[in-house]
Amino acid sequence: MPRCMKSKLIVALDVDTFAEAAALVNDLSPVVEIFKVGSQLFTRVGPRMLDHIHQTGRQVFLDLKFHDIPNTVAKAVAAAAAHKVFMLTVHASGGAEMLQAAAQVTGRPMIVGVTVLTSVAGDVQAEVLSRARLCQTAGLDGVVASPQELPALRQKYGEQFVIVTPGIRPAWAATGDQKRIMTPAEAIAAGATYLVVGRPILAAADRKEAAERVLAEMGS
Ligand code: C5P
Repeated sequence: MPRCMKSKLIVALDVDTFAEAAALVNDLSPVVEIFKVGSQLFTRVGPRMLDHIHQTGRQVFLDLKFHDIPNTVAKAVAAAAAHKVFMLTVHASGGAEMLQAAAQVTGRPMIVGVTVLTSVAGDVQAEVLSRARLCQTAGLDGVVASPQELPALRQKYGEQFVIVTPGIRPAWAATGDQKRIMTPAEAIAAGATYLVVGRPILAAADRKEAAERVLAEMGS
């Protein structure tokens, strides 16, 4: 399996307890390098979770989708930087000033702007593209966007623009509440930098094997 695919897979630790998350990290860290900690787990467990992931030699994508006045967002970004996270999210809808404040934090991690949540149905492409422009102009590294917007984003914003893509469903997995979905192979072909996968791996009987299957699909 090409190593570069391992560096593109992010597994979402969408569970409620430190014990469950630590078990997942333990099971998956032989094959997964980046774990996403979102509001569910962070609100319950806190920074201790980030420290644990780092202690296992793995990286953290902190998905708290900051959206507040510029000063508060900048301070939250600085706090995340102090925890040595690898990447974090802000809401692009927070506007140019808020995004610039985040981008200008010294020693900050990679920052991606959430464009439109993948649970939103309908034709959102124009909105996604305009929010991506806002993120790029403000100096962020990229965006979070559904697979459907990948080709247009990649074409418009170039190879260096980071595109993080949830809404990934391997052919063998249930769709769940994801509305704008693609398989891992399709998302890689369409230009995703990182794929975020949760339930298809978390709900599998053998989670490491499920992650390996996703990685194999990404690499084929
Ligand atoms: O659906 P799955 O469990 O793979 O979701 C992984 C991540 O994708 C979640 O942590 C969430 O942040 C994001 N997600 C999303 N839209 C949904 C469901 C989940 O963006 N409808």
